[in-house]
Amino acid sequence: MRKPLVAGNWKMHGLRADIVELVDGLNKADLPDDVEVAVFPPFIHVERVVGALSRSDIKVGAQDCAIQPGQGALTGEVSASQLRDLECKYVLVGHSERRLVLGESDQVICDKFVSAQSAQMIPVLCVGETREQREAGETFEVVREQLGAVIDALGVQSLVSAVVAYEPVWAIGTGLTATPDEAQAVHAEIRALLSGYSKDLAEEIRILYGGSVKATNAAELFGMPDIDGGLVGGASLNADEFSTICRAAGCK
Ligand code: 13P
Repeated sequence: MRKPLVAGNWKMHGLRADIVELVDGLNKADLPDDVEVAVFPPFIHVERVVGALSRSDIKVGAQDCAIQPGQGALTGEVSASQLRDLECKYVLVGHSERRLVLGESDQVICDKFVSAQSAQMIPVLCVGETREQREAGETFEVVREQLGAVIDALGVQSLVSAVVAYEPVWAIGTGLTATPDEAQAVHAEIRALLSGYSKDLAEEIRILYGGSVKATNAAELFGMPDIDGGLVGGASLNADEFSTICRAAGCK
């Protein structure tokens, strides 16, 4: 039985006062017991968020980590061991904004995945196709390649302690959402691919959907059999809307 996970990726949002208000709202939110909830603040706010959350049922994650796990001479980067020290449980790896805007390669993504795990954190591996790739009928191929890069380099067992997030690039921040059927088709494909390696892994791994998830569409998306929760961007910046989304993932 997979416990759903709803993760709020705050991206590069939030001045200190905004973060205080958001965490205050989360502290008071009505969250379901049968859903795991996590928030991913910008690095500069991680420690503040960990300290200000008065409840232990909301986990904190980081949006990125350095390619090398330990501390060292790598100006501007933050290591997985430093994030673990701040009590981060999860790390996003391979988000499309980092793949496409910041040019992260599969090699870099694999290195960050390893770093996260070596610091006892759980990587959330993001995959997804662009609009052009979808229109060219390449969605499954792209997703298979992105997952395959990690499986080939690190072995399929590396996914035992990981989460996968399917985020179609064309749906991120655009207000366009994959329909529940479109999203389910890709999630089922990912699970089938993993099942070819290990039936247990395929059955147990959580596959989140991301891309314009909102209070109004979350229940339909999360109702699909292979969608185990969501990776939420814009809508996670509002505690009321985010908690509605979290509740939509419950009682499956
Ligand atoms: P939006 O929910 O704003 O579309 O962002 C999705 C996302 O990229 C989460 O990582």
